[in-house]
Amino acid sequence: MAKKSSTLPLNLKGPKPRMPLYRWLYEELRSEILAGRLHPGARLPATRDLAEQYRISRPTIVTAFEQLRSEGYVEGKVGSGTYVSETLPDELLQAPRAKSTAGTRRRGIPLSAYARRLRPLPRAEARPARAFRASQPALDAFPTDLWAQVAARRLRRVSTRLLAGGEALGYRPLREAVAEYLNTSRGVKCTADQVLIISGVQQALDRTAHLLLDPGDPVWIEEPGYPGAAVVFRAVGAKICPVPVDSEGLNLDAGRRRWPQQRPRLVYVTPAHQFPLGVTMSLRRRLSLLEWARRSRTIIFEDDYDSEYRYSGRPIPALQGLDRAAVVIFAGSFTDVLFPALRLAYLVVPADMVDIFAAAESVSTHHPPLIDQAILCDFIREGHFARHVRRMRELYAERLSVLVESAREQLGGLLEIPAVEAGLRTVGWLQGGILAERAAEAAAKYDVEVVPLSRYAYGRARRDGIVLGFAAVDAQELRRGVEQLARALEDCRRMLRQGRIKGSKMAKTQWHLAAACSFDICVGKVFDQRNHC
Ligand SMILES: Cc1ncc(COP(=O)(O)O)c(C=O)c1O
Repeated sequence: MAKKSSTLPLNLKGPKPRMPLYRWLYEELRSEILAGRLHPGARLPATRDLAEQYRISRPTIVTAFEQLRSEGYVEGKVGSGTYVSETLPDELLQAPRAKSTAGTRRRGIPLSAYARRLRPLPRAEARPARAFRASQPALDAFPTDLWAQVAARRLRRVSTRLLAGGEALGYRPLREAVAEYLNTSRGVKCTADQVLIISGVQQALDRTAHLLLDPGDPVWIEEPGYPGAAVVFRAVGAKICPVPVDSEGLNLDAGRRRWPQQRPRLVYVTPAHQFPLGVTMSLRRRLSLLEWARRSRTIIFEDDYDSEYRYSGRPIPALQGLDRAAVVIFAGSFTDVLFPALRLAYLVVPADMVDIFAAAESVSTHHPPLIDQAILCDFIREGHFARHVRRMRELYAERLSVLVESAREQLGGLLEIPAVEAGLRTVGWLQGGILAERAAEAAAKYDVEVVPLSRYAYGRARRDGIVLGFAAVDAQELRRGVEQLARALEDCRRMLRQGRIKGSKMAKTQWHLAAACSFDICVGKVFDQRNHC
């Protein structure tokens, strides 16, 4: 990147009352970037200068810079210079303008209603993993040499037929391998004919939304829940109806009470390992949900992401495997089991929907990269996949116990980690009135990543919690993370006692606002009132 210095002196508007300082600074710098006053390649002022100019602490500035970096607005290292990204994605530049220009791009090219509703998802964190990155498996433990051998072998004997391309539904031998795996390991009942290979569960959601939803159709989503689903449903104009999650998963009765007039077209659930709370949907709830969906002719999208790893508790068959009325679309991904860059996942659809999904694939990507599909197929067929999953389950169980043990020793009275049955992440419940947003800010100052639960909630989050990943880093880094998190939470508790920050009971209204606003950050303003039932 050609590094230039900032040409314009910064003249930020002063801090706003009741807004955390880091957030104010983040927003001011972001609007300078989006308005072009801080141009690509421009160097941001040194933290020391900003601290002096605006009388704020350097850790606060670092937190704001980190937020900008994680969203792709800036690059570089605190200390050796932070620069506005040369390659600001177009969506970032459009996002705030779409509102102010009433749906017309700066160049005057009108966008579709879909494009006007579309908001980008935050990009994956580019920095090396640290405690407690939630969105990453143990990439350091991935057998890259083995993958390279399998890939090289496949490429050496690649047929002209494979090079010519294939079916829209995906590479047939891979669909067969996936069907076998799902039938034996995930309690799914399907034939290879119902399996589609797709570029990620995210794309599966997008496809499903385009094929099954029209603007105005109500969609139930879990609250808290996966923001990537909400973004997709919102973009096609669906009405988002959040339904609370309890200890048995999506609370069907609460949904019916909350949305009595709205028969949803689709319900999005993560029954094996609820995102982000980690609850497993009970068998009783699964059966009621299926029966209700059958009667109300609602399609259930079952997102099985992140559920290969179960450490305790009895596995319950997938909703799809219990479905007698062909109302379930099932999706799972290789992102968390192998590596995110692979971008391969699978969809299992009812037999009468196969053709329409194939048609949608044929007019867009045609099919996901076929050579990668063939390599993955070999990796599964040669037994490496099953071995890798077994090895990773052991590794993650070890990492989880390090987290739980260290938390028991050092986070007593500050954070409570519930029993973790499955997955690569867990929620931690904050104690003593500490707000999740405050906890995340404080943790960032100690170089620890935690995500406030409010990022996954629309409206009121009922309890203050943070999401901690335990898979991405080793035991040593997990221990460091717990130690630093304890310091961060102690700081919060001290400031709370001194009245320097607000606690969750003392500031209900503010908390509510914080929840809505941080969810906006995460999903790029997914909702507006019109699209919320
Ligand atoms: C619950 C959930 N579903 C789906 C996805 C997206 O999966 P993929 O990488 O296969 O697109 C994620 C990614 O974080 C997720 O957490």
